[in-house]
Parts: sequence; C-alpha cells; structure tokens
Amino acid sequence: MYAAMGALGLAPSEQDKKFVAPRAGDFSLRGKGAATVVILGAGVAGLTAAYELGKAGYDCTLLEAADRAGGRNLTLRGGDRLDELNGPTQDVTFGQGVYFNAGPARIAPWMVTLDYCRELGIPIETFINDNAAAYVHTNGRTVRSRTARADMYGYVAELLAKATNIGALNRTITKADQETLLDFLRRFGDLGPKLEYEGSMRRGFTKYPAVDLGTPLDLPGSLHQVLAAGTGRAITNNFGYDQATPMFQPVGGMDAIVARLTEAVGQERIKTGARVTKITNLHDGVEVVHEGGSVKADYCIAALPPHILAKIPHNLGAQVTTALRAPVPVAAGKIGLEYGTRWWELEDRIYGGVTETDLDIAHIWYPSHDYHAERGLLVGYYNHERDAELYGALSPEDRRRRALTQGKKIHGEKYRQNVLSSVSIAWERRPHIQGGWVRWPDFDSSFTFLQRPAGRVYFAGDWLTHLIAWQAGAMESARGVVTRLHQRVLQSA
Ligand code: ALA
Repeated sequence: MYAAMGALGLAPSEQDKKFVAPRAGDFSLRGKGAATVVILGAGVAGLTAAYELGKAGYDCTLLEAADRAGGRNLTLRGGDRLDELNGPTQDVTFGQGVYFNAGPARIAPWMVTLDYCRELGIPIETFINDNAAAYVHTNGRTVRSRTARADMYGYVAELLAKATNIGALNRTITKADQETLLDFLRRFGDLGPKLEYEGSMRRGFTKYPAVDLGTPLDLPGSLHQVLAAGTGRAITNNFGYDQATPMFQPVGGMDAIVARLTEAVGQERIKTGARVTKITNLHDGVEVVHEGGSVKADYCIAALPPHILAKIPHNLGAQVTTALRAPVPVAAGKIGLEYGTRWWELEDRIYGGVTETDLDIAHIWYPSHDYHAERGLLVGYYNHERDAELYGALSPEDRRRRALTQGKKIHGEKYRQNVLSSVSIAWERRPHIQGGWVRWPDFDSSFTFLQRPAGRVYFAGDWLTHLIAWQAGAMESARGVVTRLHQRVLQSA
C-alpha cells in the first residue's frame, strides 16, 4: 500500500527521504512516472528534459548525432577540433586555461539557467555586458562608450530642457511636473546652470585625476557632430531586459552546464554518433531508427533544430513537416582571438565588456574572467544574418584576417600583433545544427501547433519559446514538455 502510494507520489519513497525545501526557481514533477522516453538531441533542451524526467523516475535514452552532447552550448579549449560542413576542420591550440564560449556566453539573472547552475552546483561569476571604458565605433570614429553616452544624453537633455522652458510641454504636463523633469534632465545630461550641455567629466579624461585634477577630454563636438556620429544603436544595445547588467557566466566555461547535466542524467544514457533517420509513432509507443540501431520507447521528445527535424522521415503527418519548416534558420558567427598579452587590460584599461561597432564584426567582447592572466581571448566578431554569412563563407584564415583588419580600426596596430591562435565558428555550417538560432516570420499557428505532441512525439527547444537563442528558452520548453508528458502518464496509469 505504502509502495503504491509512493509510486503515485503520495508517500515519500526511499530516495526522497532527504527533504530539500523548495526554492523559487525549483521545478519538480510530482509523482513518479515509470515510462520510457527517447529524446532526440542532447542539446540543452534534450538534456534538461532527461534530467527532469530522470528525477521523476523515467527511463530516458538520448540520441545525439554529434560525437558530443551540448548542441550549441560549446566551449572550445586547446586540443579540441571544430568541424564545419563542406569546410576545413580547425584545430584549437589555445594555451592552458584559455577557453572560448563559441555558443551561449551570457545569462541574465532572471533566467532559469541560473537556477540550474545553482541546483547543479555550478559556480558562476559576473559577465560584464556593459563597460563604460569599452569603445563605440560608428561612422569611422572610435570613442569610449562613456564619452558617446555623455554627449548623447547631454544634448538630448539640453534639447528637452529647452523645449520645456519655452513652454512646449505646457499643454502636456503641469508646471510642477516640468520642474521635476528639469531636475532630472540636469542630472541625466550633467547640464550647466543655463541648462546647456557643455561637456562633462563623465566623458572621461586623457589623464585621470590623482593628486592633481587630471586632464579631462576636450569639449564635445556640436550637437550636429554628435548626432552625425551615429552612436544611437551602439549605446542602447544593452538596454534590453535580456541584456541589462548584471549578467553571469559559469566559471571556467559555459559547458559546465552540459557537463553537470550529463553527469546527472548519466553518460550511459546518451548515445552519441546516433543520427536519427526515421521516427514512427505507434499506437503504444514510438520507434526511432538511428545510425547504429533503433530504440522503442513509450514516448519521444524531439529536441532537434526544426529545420533538421523536418528532413527526417516520419509518420507524424504533413502538417508537422509544414510547421517545422516555418521557422527560418539564422546564420551566426564568432571568432575567438587568443593573444599573448592582455593589452586591452594593460593598455586600454578595458576589463570585460563589449565594444559596439557598425562594422561587419558587430561586436568585440573582452573576457570577464582571469583578469591580469598572461594570455587572454577576445571575441573578435559576433555577428548574425548577412554579416555572419559573409564571414562564414570565408576560410578560417580569411575570417581571421578580416576580423583583425576591422579590429585594428578600433584598437590600432596592436590588434594584429601577438595573436597566438584563433578559432572561428559559423553556426549555419555546423553539422547537425545548421543555424545560430531560428526566426519565426510570425509566431503563427505552426508555433502553437508544435507546442502539442503529434501522437506520442513531443517537440522541445528554444525555438518553441519567446526566448529564442537563449539556453533559458531550451530549458523552459523542456520543462513545459515534461510537465505535459508526465500529466499524461499519470492520467493513463
Ligand atoms: N542570446 C544571444 C546573445 O546573448 C542572442 O547574444
């Protein structure tokens, strides 16, 4: 009786004896399921599904086409090799301790990803997403981010303050509100007594204060010059709810998430090199054929990219194929440039953060860890769509050459010196993945349709959420799917 209650989740079983008080981010399926589940794809969605189902007593098998788990969660270190479809293999030769998060690399604090880091015992550290000392490079000019911001905020504040003072807002807000607004604008723009922006120490210094007052930068350009610099996008890039500071990263590489999930799931449950070639929904289960055999299970969770899944023969119906073809894969690329010295820290005083550019490299990222170490790795480009396709089409040597030529426009000749090695990834050319992420032309009926299972086959992935291109999306999707699957199992028991 007690055992039966345990099986239904009504009484604690032996293994549940150790009580852990639930915390806000925790997730647990109530009651034990005993079904078998075959999970297609050991990326973050597949691993999360297996992890949660495992905790609830399910017997999961993961089929992974690549020779490693993790999917787009990929951290490259010395000794690794990187394959590309129809392209050369790159050997990674980074020195000891140097790593490159070639896929996901930053986590916002509200994301469930951090809950998994906590639950799995993965130490995290701050990822510097915003650094006033990093640069903004637009329309051929390079300034520090703090300078670009001071000038734009300053002039915007001045304009609005003046408009307020000549009565332009009289019909919109009360006098009292105008006073409050003016008070804010003075602070926002660091305006002078006449509500004019005449530069500010916020712009930065050529020599910072010490015993002396230091030497502030020259006065700002005119309003016209500041507007013409075109820094608008660059200085607002990290204003979004998913990019605002602080952000986080696992210590030592993003793949700690894959490593800990794999450990928790059980390495032996993950069959690598098992590309799926056929999915058959049966009345009492699902049969999946892969290179190297076949697996029969009670249920299946297909956690592959939709454009890959769409190409696998199945009997799930034409509507499934049509829906899987709706999201469009997006190219995305990054290059890791390993340097023999951290000149960005030593000379430019940039500790972490991102330089925003209007060049085809889009961004340069400085490492947010191991400050003052001898070597270090910059992300020399992180782009998507057209720019990523352009770089992806080049050989690794040409990608590096182009990235260095672009970066030199910002950092000068030192950018091309002392580069020890580099590795570039073109996600649209990654075997079994073929895209950085996907874009839904609109989140239409296909999106809704694939939230539901086709027979005994469920679909999971970041692409089925509004958190596309985030591990949190993969995790949230997996949690949704295992919840629905589990409810079905408990109901049919
Ligand atoms: N999640 C991706 C990023 O942080 C898009 O850049």
